Amino acid sequence: TPSSMELVQDTSRPPLVKVKGVPLIKYFAEVMGPLQSFQAWPDDLLISTYPKSGTTWLSEILEMIYQGGDLEKCHRAPIYIRVPFLEFKCPGVPSGLETLKDTPAPRLLKTHLPLGLIPQSLLDQKVKVVYVARNAKDVAVSYYNFYKMAKLYPDPGSWDNFLEKFMDGQVSYGSWYQHVQEWWELSRTHPVLYLFYEDLKENPKREIRKILEFLGRSLSEETVDHIVQHTSFEEMKKNPMANYSTIPTEMMDHSISPFMRKGVC
Ligand SMILES: *[C@@H]1O[C@H](CO)[C@@H](O)[C@H](O)[C@H]1NC(C)=O
Repeated sequence: TPSSMELVQDTSRPPLVKVKGVPLIKYFAEVMGPLQSFQAWPDDLLISTYPKSGTTWLSEILEMIYQGGDLEKCHRAPIYIRVPFLEFKCPGVPSGLETLKDTPAPRLLKTHLPLGLIPQSLLDQKVKVVYVARNAKDVAVSYYNFYKMAKLYPDPGSWDNFLEKFMDGQVSYGSWYQHVQEWWELSRTHPVLYLFYEDLKENPKREIRKILEFLGRSLSEETVDHIVQHTSFEEMKKNPMANYSTIPTEMMDHSISPFMRKGVC
C-alpha cells in the first residue's frame, strides 16, 4: 500500500547521528533529550551490553528468573515489551519510554548506551546492573549481519569497510573497546555484575547461579535447569516471543539474516 511504502522510505537506513560524540541510530538520538528525565526506581534492574553481545539471551534468563520459571508468563509478550529498551524509538512501534509507562515494578530494563549517555537517575538510585561482554571479533561479525537485516542502520557496505568503522568506533553506539572498559570501571563504585558471553555459553547454570546471588534470590535446582533449557540458543531461536519475528519486516528482514543467527563463540 502507498502508506507502507512511505514508511519504508521514511524509516529506511537514515545516517547515524552523533550525540556527545557517540554515533546513534537517528531515532534513538532523538530520544536522548527526553530520556535524561527518566526516573529510575531502586528495585529496577538494568541489563547493559554493547549490541550483539547476548542482550536478548540475558533478558530472557532474567525474565524467567523474575517469573519463577513460569513459561506461560514469559510468553505473554515479545521480549522488547517485557524488558523495555530504554532508548528504543522507531516510527510505528511503541518507544521504550512508552512501553515503560505500562511496566509494573520490579522492572527489567535494557540499554546499549555508553555510560556517558545513560539517565543520571539510574546511577543516583544505585540500580543494579548486569553487564555482558562478548569477544569483539564475534560482536563485529554479528553486528555486520545485523546492520544488513535491520533497516534502522545505514548500509554497512563491505565487511572490510565495516570492520574498519567498527575498530574506529564509527558504528552505532560507538567504540566497543570503550564500552566494555567503562562499564567494568563502573563496578568499582556501583553494583554491577559483569558477565561474559563465553562463560554463559560454557556453563549457563554456573552463570545463572551468579545472577541469582547478585539479585539475592533463590530458585530450586529444578527451576534453574528449566531456565537453562528454555534459554538455549535452539529454544530462543524458535521462540516467537524472543526471536524478533514480531517486528515488521520493513524494519528487520530475517530473510537477509535471522536475528538469532548462530550464537557461537
Ligand atoms: C521465530 O519463531 C517462530 C515460531 O517458532 C518461527 O516460525 C520463526 O521462523 C522464527 N523466526 C526466526 C527469524 O527465526
